[in-house]
Amino acid sequence: MSERSGPKTVVFGVTGGIAAYKAVEVCRRLVDAGVHVVPVLTAGAERFVAKTTFSALASEPVQSSLFDEASPIPHTLLARRADLVVVAPATADFLARYAAGTAGDLLGATLLATRAPVLVCPAMHTEMWEHPSVQENLATLRRRGVEVVPPEAGALAAGDVGVGRLAEPAAIVEAALGLLGAHGDLAGHRVAVSAGGTREPIDPVRHLSNRSSGKQGHALARAALRRGAEVTLVTTVASSLPSHPRLSVVRVDTAAEMEAVMAVEAEKADVIVMAAAVADFRPVAIAPSKLTKDQGIPELVLEKTPDILAGLAARRRPGQVIVGFAAETDEPLARARRKRAAKAVDLMVVNDVSAPGVGFDYDTNAVTIVSAFEDREVPLTSKAVVADTVLDQVVELLADGGPEPSPEGH
Ligand code: C5P
Repeated sequence: MSERSGPKTVVFGVTGGIAAYKAVEVCRRLVDAGVHVVPVLTAGAERFVAKTTFSALASEPVQSSLFDEASPIPHTLLARRADLVVVAPATADFLARYAAGTAGDLLGATLLATRAPVLVCPAMHTEMWEHPSVQENLATLRRRGVEVVPPEAGALAAGDVGVGRLAEPAAIVEAALGLLGAHGDLAGHRVAVSAGGTREPIDPVRHLSNRSSGKQGHALARAALRRGAEVTLVTTVASSLPSHPRLSVVRVDTAAEMEAVMAVEAEKADVIVMAAAVADFRPVAIAPSKLTKDQGIPELVLEKTPDILAGLAARRRPGQVIVGFAAETDEPLARARRKRAAKAVDLMVVNDVSAPGVGFDYDTNAVTIVSAFEDREVPLTSKAVVADTVLDQVVELLADGGPEPSPEGH
């Protein structure tokens, strides 16, 4: 398995079953999650899906032959690059060949050569699934440490119904990300992430808020989970993450609620990421009943909310790494540098929300990660990749034993 930082590599094997069409969706979701996906199709798979489809969606072109690729030893190269091998769908024939250890094609040879964890996702007709040969082959593979996402009951090809249908793409992707995270570089660390815009009530039906979808914060929580962390997501919008044994989600509304929850989390967290858009001002008093038009135009008297991030940084535990976010429209870099120093945080991740495709409701973002030592630019990419790039820097800071004092002037 590789020890590189940055995106993890999944060698994604597709074998020749009708469920190969669903593998397209699995591939796309893995890429969306920030994984580098290298597709390997068997000859059988190519009878069901076109190479072109996977080449277009995956991180690199399909490989399918032991012999006619650019390299004379594609299987050993693939085997070494893999952080995980996923086979979806895995046919009965593939399971038999894998259990027997045959290496007659690129996928089989790669599976023998790799030391990365392997996840197989069988799909076949019920009668085949229940056959003792298939079950014994699967038991053999499990005994050798291969992970399995079993098939589900449901509609099969040719109008049949029963157990044997490939698991849902979301379930396969979560299992794959979980395996990548089990040995991740944040394993053993606690990470608290805040997300979404806080809502400061004016009356029982109205509030002041910030534009924020929470997507970048959720992507950070997802990436931290995948890298093995214990994660608490403190969010003002419903969590988009599937439930996970290492994930706790706390829903909050106001800055005061977020502050209280983050204070508790900060006592145990090794990493704090304030991706939330905290309202800067809130009404001094909340009207007990709905303000109506016939009462005239209300005058809102506002007060400042607590600066949660600055407060957390002021009470930081030794070695704790603290990250803030800043959405700017003017002079983003200069402002981010000033804010990083003023709030005494390790990293300030700034985005210029006036640029196309950046921030708020988009699934993409372009940021600069400002530290005491450098500005690292991350050009327009998915929020998943931004999350991983931020966490790469967090991991470096943790490895150095926590934050360093800032050099003067940055
Ligand atoms: O100063 P500004 O609001 O631009 O700083 C943004 C950063 O500070 C974000 O990380 C945000 O979560 C945090 N913040 C906070 N409490 C506030 C305002 C912002 O924690 N009241």
